[in-house]
Amino acid sequence: MSEGTRTDTWPSGIASVGLGSVTREVAADEPPPLPPNAELSVIGRSVPRWNARAKVTGATRYTVDVVLPGMLHGRILRSPHAHARLRNIDTTAAVAQPGVRAVLPMIDATDPSHALLRYVGAPVAAVAATSIAAADEALQRIGVDYEPLPFVVDLDRAREPDAARVYEPQTAPGASAAGYPARENLPLHGNVRGPALDRRGDLAAGFAQAEVVVEGEYRTQVQTHCCMEPHAVVADWRDDGLTVYLSTQYTAGVRRELAQAFGLPLNRVRVVVDGMGGGFGSKSSLGSYGRAAVMLSRRARAPVRIVLARDEEQMDTGNRPGTRQRLRIGARRDGSLTAIALTSYGTAGIGLGAGVGNNAQTLYTCANFESAQHDVFIHAGPGCPMRAPGNVQGAWALEQAIDELAERLAIDPLRLRDRIDPSPVRREERRLGAERIAWARRRAPGADPGPIKRGIGMAQSIWGANVQLNASCEVRVMRDGAVEVLSGVQDIGTGIGTVLAQVVAEVLGLRASDITVRIGDTEFPAGPPSYGSLTTASISPPARSAAWRVLQRLLRTVAPTLHAAPDDLVARDGRIVVRSDPARGLAFAQAVALLRTDRISAVASRSDDYGGFRQRFGEMAQAQQDLGGVQFAEVAVDTDTGVVRVERVVAVQDCGRPMHPKQIESQVQGGVLMGLSFALLENRVLDRHSGRMLNADLEHYKIATAGDAPRVEVVVLENYQGHSATDAYGIAEPANIATAPAIANAVCNAIGVRLRDLPMTPAAVLAALGRMPARS
Ligand code: MOS
Repeated sequence: MSEGTRTDTWPSGIASVGLGSVTREVAADEPPPLPPNAELSVIGRSVPRWNARAKVTGATRYTVDVVLPGMLHGRILRSPHAHARLRNIDTTAAVAQPGVRAVLPMIDATDPSHALLRYVGAPVAAVAATSIAAADEALQRIGVDYEPLPFVVDLDRAREPDAARVYEPQTAPGASAAGYPARENLPLHGNVRGPALDRRGDLAAGFAQAEVVVEGEYRTQVQTHCCMEPHAVVADWRDDGLTVYLSTQYTAGVRRELAQAFGLPLNRVRVVVDGMGGGFGSKSSLGSYGRAAVMLSRRARAPVRIVLARDEEQMDTGNRPGTRQRLRIGARRDGSLTAIALTSYGTAGIGLGAGVGNNAQTLYTCANFESAQHDVFIHAGPGCPMRAPGNVQGAWALEQAIDELAERLAIDPLRLRDRIDPSPVRREERRLGAERIAWARRRAPGADPGPIKRGIGMAQSIWGANVQLNASCEVRVMRDGAVEVLSGVQDIGTGIGTVLAQVVAEVLGLRASDITVRIGDTEFPAGPPSYGSLTTASISPPARSAAWRVLQRLLRTVAPTLHAAPDDLVARDGRIVVRSDPARGLAFAQAVALLRTDRISAVASRSDDYGGFRQRFGEMAQAQQDLGGVQFAEVAVDTDTGVVRVERVVAVQDCGRPMHPKQIESQVQGGVLMGLSFALLENRVLDRHSGRMLNADLEHYKIATAGDAPRVEVVVLENYQGHSATDAYGIAEPANIATAPAIANAVCNAIGVRLRDLPMTPAAVLAALGRMPARS
């Protein structure tokens, strides 16, 4: 709009430290400043989840619950070889099977450059049939002639010059999965791509100034996403357009992918998702199974459903790349850092994106820095973003190295971080967390007399406060009092629907339960993705703007009846009242009955952050602030068995204005449990003789369950900066970064030995204690 701008004064600062104010110039059609949560009635309160009843009664419709008339079932044939050339596919016997409606080769055997299969589980062909059994039967009848080729599935082995090659330079991918671009035009030597270099200052001079140097090599394993709900799709190709029901983190992005892939205009493609059982980065795009379902539907002229089995989930829906990092840090005796050098080699299988993030670059003050990050290709399923991609791996090394430095300097790890970490947010988080866990009782390693040794450790993190600019929301008010909020944004389980209802209710003076939430459908204004921890930051401000614009129209309508100026009216407690004389007013239902039309509505889109962004990358931008987070862990290590038991975690996190404390706590609980699982249990095992994943299930691939869960205490900072109509940012990824190194630092405090490789299994602990031979 071109109504000019206005200057507003917003609350600013960390609530537990003391609030001040900040002045912002904003567009005139943006809503007025939002007071701190303590002065609000719906935002900042733990109102019931918008879909809680539907979820607990089973009414929520997940993609696997979608049943369309005449729907067929699709299954995918996958490569049993880690590396093979496809000489021929013969589908004649499969096509002739009873119940089979379509058979689709997914590899072009006639084109030598496309006829290569590069991992066990790579899709070869797909079948749609009237039942899953018939489809499986048909898969067996597809005749495939494979020519097996040499392969490599080990990160270290793949770096050797004589290792089997995954790609020739001209076939290697140039960019990684959606949302997390890899640097382009990096050199490829054998299977090693890179380095991607980052530099500042003078590294050699920095190390020359150092009085103490710590150096170590750290390894992280491959972790798989293990969403409770598998990847699932129902594709319905019709002459007048395509509808795809998909368990996805990004309806708008998948719509664009589909439109491009199938040459359809955006308005002929609809993507729908209702309930979701997690994504963690693995459901951001269409996927080969999604594309197969659409092609089968087009071919069979019927809707096709594909639901991946758990072994397909494990092999071919992405993973957190494994890494090997060497980190070297120089410091003066007072703890100030003089140099940081980082070299990493990571593998995302046949894909890119195996870097270790930016914790080492950005967390601490250090003038001299150099990093060289490499991607190593192996014959394994492609990695993809997974909950704080890169930074989880990077923090594993950095936060242990900083603790090691503290030991060497005989400085308390918290005091050292107070000295080298410029963030006032994390400083306050360390203070709050130390108080809660009673850091002062921390003892020297091995202080317990018996075989069970207890210890306390901490670690911290940084994550960008990200925003998606293509994020819109509509608010509708009906003449009968119904209020709806509509957006394509999807609720992957984090509760964004609740937040939208809260925001609209706060503006209109209603309860969150009065608002009907309609989301997860591209028929509504395009919503942001549920990745990058950017959803709340992107869609809650336009929800407030849209509600506020609708309210202005409503106030203009009722002003004459109340004999007041619209500006003198406020919406609160289910009423529209005169500010100066609150006894004069109308119930909300009476007020909307005065509308001339059945429905009024406004659509709003995400504006720039007030005060501007720090960085923009395409549709995404990063706010002028970062997200912190400090976690403390208390562990008991059984030195006879090697078992590490995490007894307690205190997680202190920030996300700007906390919109819904309970949902935030739920995110942090999940982040901590996922981090604990990564620290102690999870590990994809590939057989170097066959290239197969030996634990492609949930029995041998261990993930933490309720029995492993420690007591997790969540403390959330209120950090106001006046950057948007809600001033809210994300929480999901930051909560996952610091857990593993906090546990490792606690283990080191317990037993006096540092574990630098993940996962910290009983065997690894015993080996570190010298009680068992180390693994090769
Ligand atoms: Mo995430 S890895 O941004 O879903």
